[in-house]
Amino acid sequence: MQPGSIYVTRLLPEPGTAALTAAGHVVDQHPHDSPPSPRELRAHAIGKDALLTMLTDRVDADLLDAAPTVRIVANFAVGFDNVDVRAATERGVVVTNTPDVLTDATADLTWALLLAAARRIGEAERIVRSGTWRGWEPTQLLGQPVAGRTLGIVGMGKIGRAVARRACGFDMEVRYHNRHRDEAAEAALGVRYADLDTLLSTSDVVTIHAPLTPETHHLIDGRALSCMQPHAVLVNTARGPIVDEAALVDALRDGRLAAAGLDVYESEPQLAEGLAELDNVVLAPHIGSATTEARAAMVRTCIDNILAVLGGHRPRTPVNPEVLE
Ligand code: GLV
Ligand code: GLV
Repeated sequence: MQPGSIYVTRLLPEPGTAALTAAGHVVDQHPHDSPPSPRELRAHAIGKDALLTMLTDRVDADLLDAAPTVRIVANFAVGFDNVDVRAATERGVVVTNTPDVLTDATADLTWALLLAAARRIGEAERIVRSGTWRGWEPTQLLGQPVAGRTLGIVGMGKIGRAVARRACGFDMEVRYHNRHRDEAAEAALGVRYADLDTLLSTSDVVTIHAPLTPETHHLIDGRALSCMQPHAVLVNTARGPIVDEAALVDALRDGRLAAAGLDVYESEPQLAEGLAELDNVVLAPHIGSATTEARAAMVRTCIDNILAVLGGHRPRTPVNPEVLE
């Protein structure tokens, strides 16, 4: 096998890039937790055989044209909206992602935000830490019940299904909306398909697990939010731009929605104006896959995919398998 060269755009958690160097490849790694600038990304991509990129790196036609030797873009995320997959496919570049290994971590975080938003945990924490808590009160911090209520899942992929499985323990009725009806999921999980407006208007909690695409951009806009019930809770651990964040701020501020739990934002790390001032939203900094185990498995998936492509083999998790035909 010819040794290859790989640009890794960030410091990685364990097990890092040792397997690449052990296989004789040369690794050029951005030495910080913060991202390279687009210009640095381009300068380092030139002449490389593989890129190991983050969801914060924009990989577009210009970058791929500047670095025509690149054969694989291994994206360290399940989502790949930061990569122009069509441009990659046209240039014969395989793009891979990290599905499966972060499904449980992301579903767990979804439930953490769901429960925290419904039961006002962020607000409660702030009261206790501020030293102003006066002790137990019968009227303090009354939230929304979760058990026995209706959960609406937008996007019934692996993460959506993992969230649905957890809902069994809360005796929830689960509805889902998806591009395609999923009869296997309906039979296995006892979930029911609903069109988006019906799901929004009948669910007590709505949680988003769809990829970001032109079709899902602002899927949850002001009109969609106005379909939801005033006691309802919205959770987003998918991608920020699926929700119109300014419209969400308005709905939360005007009491048209009880609460929200967010892990993702439209222009990370910026927040929509007014969002951080609202008490009825729980805010996490895009940590859906942030467990030691999930991140290590994501590293291994990226490395295995790069080793496969550089060795002339099929990678395990391509998102554009048609380039391998
Ligand atoms: C995280 O957001 C991911 O797509 O893996
Ligand atoms: C609350 O702490 C209760 O005992 O009801």
